Amino acid sequence: MAFWDKILAPFRSLSARLLVLTLLFVMLAEILIFVPSIAFFRLNYLEKKVDFAHLATLSLLASPDNMVSEELREELLFRVGARSVVLHGANTRLLILRENMPYIIDAEYNLAEDNPFGLIEDAFASLIRGPGRIIRILSPIENEPNSQLEVVIDEAPLIREMYKYAWNIFWVSLLISTLTAILVYFALHWLMVRPMRRLSESMISFRRAPEDVRTAFLPSGRSDEIGIAERELEIMQTRLRAALKQKQHLVALGTAVTKISHDLRNILSTSQIVSDSLARIEDPKVQKIVPRLMTSIDRAIDLCTQTLKFGRADEREPRKERFLLEPLVNEVKASVGLRESESIDWRNRIPSGMMLNADREQFYRILLNLSRNAVQAMEGKGTLEIHALRAGSRTLIRIMDTGPGLPEKAKAHLFEPFSGSARAGGTGLGLSIVRELVIAHGGEITLERTGPSGTIFCIDLPD
Ligand SMILES: Nc1ncnc2c1ncn2[C@@H]1O[C@H](COP(=O)(O)OP(=O)(O)OP(=O)(O)O)[C@@H](O)[C@H]1O
Ligand SMILES: [Mg+2]
Repeated sequence: MAFWDKILAPFRSLSARLLVLTLLFVMLAEILIFVPSIAFFRLNYLEKKVDFAHLATLSLLASPDNMVSEELREELLFRVGARSVVLHGANTRLLILRENMPYIIDAEYNLAEDNPFGLIEDAFASLIRGPGRIIRILSPIENEPNSQLEVVIDEAPLIREMYKYAWNIFWVSLLISTLTAILVYFALHWLMVRPMRRLSESMISFRRAPEDVRTAFLPSGRSDEIGIAERELEIMQTRLRAALKQKQHLVALGTAVTKISHDLRNILSTSQIVSDSLARIEDPKVQKIVPRLMTSIDRAIDLCTQTLKFGRADEREPRKERFLLEPLVNEVKASVGLRESESIDWRNRIPSGMMLNADREQFYRILLNLSRNAVQAMEGKGTLEIHALRAGSRTLIRIMDTGPGLPEKAKAHLFEPFSGSARAGGTGLGLSIVRELVIAHGGEITLERTGPSGTIFCIDLPD
């Protein structure tokens, strides 16, 4: 199979197929022309024989007593190329010339019957049966309605001539068909194959990079079917490109929604804790409101969780401002969701008066995510410390906990969205959002240490 594939490979192109097909079709047309022409060639040959014979009879009839010498008779027969010539009058049969040797007639043809199909059949019968026959030809004589000339000839020279003619026709046909095929090939190549190739190349480059405007197809402005295909391709590419762009916008929008939901859920968790505390107040009015408050918060958290099943998008540029870090950490503590039942020791070790030049809101989210992760990991018992120090032109902030350390899965997919979560109900977005926000500030976040004695994340922020 592979062998034939290799041999046939060059013929698989449209151009090569067209070349071969044109060659075949022109040859076929030549054969169709050859069939009647060989029949007329034969008829012509026979008519010429009869004409010569007629001339010979006329010269004979002009001689005294219609008699000629033996030599002249032989000479005339030889010139005509006949074995005998007989002139039939209205009631007479006049043997004009005859060879001395006896012979048997194999076939008889009457030139008065000139049915074209009969002529074709006779011609092919002669060719197929081959040489060796002796045939009798009957032909009417012009201007002498009651007379007929009968000529007996050998068929062999006729067949030789016919083969020569066929052979010539074959070579001429081959030449004509090759020339035609080459012309047709170039015409088709120019009119069809080249534009088709241009179309398919454009389709391929469009498939590879649909959003790249440089791959846009430029129609040649033809008005035929290929022109229509070219214009349709251009329209299709333009529309697809627009649809793709719209889709990308939707993806970005979806991702933004996901991130908002993620942090909104964290914020809502704070409200959940507050409502927990509210539930312990024995005032009947409060008792009446709290269940409704709790269901609506639960619903909102649920909604966020659902939304989080969708993609991610670009964060807005950080809007930098100078702010005090210590109070921000206190805000994070208030929001992180420490329940009264838990014995988590929260230590804010930020030097008082330490300023940070960053996006306050985004920094709040960074610290909230990291602290929440730590609190969740410690499961109600442990110490969480937040440190900050200046090192040259950098600020290093460390979030340290005494939790069990990162699980293997979380370590393997650290900072990767969706895949890093090793916590039931976690989405695995927290750390990836943190990293994106830190990078947007020109900083870096690293997992400094993790193990059974705890975990340290370090944020390195340049001025
Ligand atoms: N301080 C930590 N101690 C132990 N494990 C941690 C700590 N921080 C993160 N992890 C692990 O890393 C995983 C990924 O954290 P990440 O914040 O990205 O996602 P998540 O907390 O599971 O979900 P969410 O998107 O709601 O934050 C967590 O599931 C947790 O197992
Ligand atoms: Mg988290």
